[in-house]
Amino acid sequence: MQREQITGTDTHQRRTHTCGALRPEHVGQTVILKGWVDTRRDLGGLIFIDLRDRYGLTQIVFSPQDGLDAYKLADSLRSEYVVSVEGRVQERSDETINPKLPTGQVEVRVDDLVVLNTADVLPFAVSAHEEKRRLASEDLRLKYRYLDLRRPEVQQRFLTRHALYQTVHRYFDAHDFVEIETPTLMKSTPEGARDYLVPSRVHPGHFYALPQSPQTYKQILMVSGLDRYVQIVKCFRDEDLRADRQPEFTQIDVEISFATEDLVYELMEGLMAAIWKDIKGGDLETPFPRMRYDEALRRFGSDKPDMRFGLELQDLSEVFEGSGFRVFDSTLAEGGKIMALVVPGMGDQGRGYMDRLDKNTVRKQIGAGGLIYFKLPADGSEAVSSVKEHVLPRATVDRAVEALGAGAGDLVLILAGATPTVYEQMGALRLHMAGELNLIPEGADGPWKFLWVTEFPLLEWDEKAQRFFAMHHPFTSPRPEDLDSMFDNPRETRARAYDLVLNGSEIGGGSIRIHNPTVQHQMFRLLGIDEEEAQERFGFLLDAFRYGAPPHGGIALGLDRIVMLLTGADSLRDVIAFPKTQSAQEPMSNSPAPVDGHQLEDLHIQVIDIEEEED
Ligand code: AMO
Repeated sequence: MQREQITGTDTHQRRTHTCGALRPEHVGQTVILKGWVDTRRDLGGLIFIDLRDRYGLTQIVFSPQDGLDAYKLADSLRSEYVVSVEGRVQERSDETINPKLPTGQVEVRVDDLVVLNTADVLPFAVSAHEEKRRLASEDLRLKYRYLDLRRPEVQQRFLTRHALYQTVHRYFDAHDFVEIETPTLMKSTPEGARDYLVPSRVHPGHFYALPQSPQTYKQILMVSGLDRYVQIVKCFRDEDLRADRQPEFTQIDVEISFATEDLVYELMEGLMAAIWKDIKGGDLETPFPRMRYDEALRRFGSDKPDMRFGLELQDLSEVFEGSGFRVFDSTLAEGGKIMALVVPGMGDQGRGYMDRLDKNTVRKQIGAGGLIYFKLPADGSEAVSSVKEHVLPRATVDRAVEALGAGAGDLVLILAGATPTVYEQMGALRLHMAGELNLIPEGADGPWKFLWVTEFPLLEWDEKAQRFFAMHHPFTSPRPEDLDSMFDNPRETRARAYDLVLNGSEIGGGSIRIHNPTVQHQMFRLLGIDEEEAQERFGFLLDAFRYGAPPHGGIALGLDRIVMLLTGADSLRDVIAFPKTQSAQEPMSNSPAPVDGHQLEDLHIQVIDIEEEED
C-alpha cells in the first residue's frame, strides 16, 4: 500500500474495547478495536490478523462475505500497520480456541477496516509470536527503542515499574512522609563519582552540578523541621558503567528526623513487604537478617553477599601456620590470610577444567596470584593436591581437609594473600563456582534473600591519592563508641552506615548522619578537607547545623535495581525507558552531541580540540 493512499483519518468512532478485553460474554456485540498488525495468516479465502495494543492480542478475521472492501484492503496490510476495525464478536470453533491468550475463545469478524498508518519494513521483529527469532542486538534495539518498547515483554517491565511508583507513594504517605522536590541544578554533593556539570550563562565560569544525590538538601529539610522526607528522584553520576550502573538513575530517597538504625530498618522492611505484596502477591518474611560488614567480608568475600546459597569461605591460616610451603609462609608472615572454599560434587574434575579455572577465572577475571586446590575423589580415594607432596606434605593436606569438614566428592579451592583483597577474590570465586553449580536462579520467581549489612568502616584508604575517603559519604556519623579514637585509629573506626542487599545486589544504602558541627568539622579534617575548603563546599550545611539540627538519618534505594530484580531483567537498561549504553551514549537521539558555536559563546565556553591538546 502506498503511503499516499492513506489519509490517516479515523472515520470510526472511539474504540469500544482494547485488544485484551474481549471474552465469550461479548459474543454478538459490534465492537471497534484499534491497534497494530502483529501477525497475519491467509487461509483459503480468509485473512486472519492478530491485532495488538498494550492490553493484549485479539484475532480479527476478514472474509469477502463479511465486507468485500475490508477484505480487499486487508490484503495489503503488513506488520505494524496501525488500523481501526469495526466488526462482530463471535465464538471460535473448538479447534481454533487459543488457550494461551486471554481473548483466545473469541474473534472479531470485520465489517469495516480503516488503515490509520502504514509502517516501513521493521529493522527487527516486534511480535512475541516470532518466538524462534533471535533477539536483535542491543545496539539495534536501543537505536529503535520505540519499536523495542512495543514488545509486550518489554512493556510488562514498565508496567511493573509503574506499579512500584504507586506503592511507594501510598506507603510513604501512610507513614507521614512529605514528598519534596530538591533542585537538579545544584552545588556538588560528593557520593564518590564525578559530577555532570552545567555551565551558568549568567555567571561566566560558574557551574551547577547535577545531583549525585540530594544528600545535603534532604539533611537541610530535617533542620527545617519537615521531619520525614521522601522523593523519587533522578541522580547523575559520571562513573564507569556496568549492567547495574547507569549514569542517570532513580532513587527512592528518604530522610527521617530523630532516626535510629532500627527505625530505618523497620520502615524499609515495611516498604519492601508492601512492594512484594502488590507486585508479587506474596508475604516477605520480616525483619530481614543483619550482618556486620567485617563478617560479610570474612564469610562471603563481599559487602553484598548473595544469601541464596551457602558456599561460605573458610580461613585456613591457622592450619597452615609453619607449613614450610613458601607461598603460605610468606603470606602469613606479611599478615595475610589463606582462605578456602569447599565446592561439593566437583572433586573429580579433570586437569583441563582445573587449568581453565586457574588461568581464565582466577588469574584473569579475579586477578589472584594462582589457585591451589585439593581434589577429593567421589570414590573416597586419596586427595589429589595441586602442590607436590615434597612441597606440601600429605599430612598437612589431610589436616586442612579435616579442618574444613570436606569429604569425598568435594573440591577444595585455596587462595592466599593480603586482606581484604584475598576475601574479595574468594568472594568472586564463590560467585563463579555458584554459577557452575547452577545455584543462582534466573528469572523473577525468587527466592528473595534480603540482608542488612551494617557497621561499615567510616573511611577507606586510597593508596594512589594517599588519603582517606569517606566509605559512604562525609556526612555519615561514626559510631559513638569510636568517636574518641577516630584520629588515633581511623582505619578501625566504624560508621553508623548500612546497606540493604537483595540476592547479592546492593539495592540501598544510608546512614545516621552527623548533626553536630564540631563532629562534622572533625570528619572533614580526617578527610584532609581544611576549614576553608569545608566552608567553601559545605558552609551552608555547617551553618544550618548551628541553628538546632535534630539528629537524623536516612537511606536511598536504587529504584531501577529493584525493578530489575522484580522483573528478572539482566541489566538496568531493560528497565529504563531510554537508557545509556556502556559508553554513556543514548543511541536513539544520539546524545551527547556537539552544540552550536553560539551556544558555547553564550556560555563563555571554548572547546579545545583534543588532538590539538595532545600535541
Ligand atoms: P548510595 O550512593 O549508596 O547512597 O546510593 C543509593 C543506592 O542507589 C543505587 N545506585 C545506583 N543505581 C544505578 N546506577 C548507579 N550508577 C547507582 N549508584 C547508586 C544503589 C545504591 O544502593 N545519598 C546516599 C543515601 C543516603 O545516605 O541516604 C546515596 O546516594 O542501589
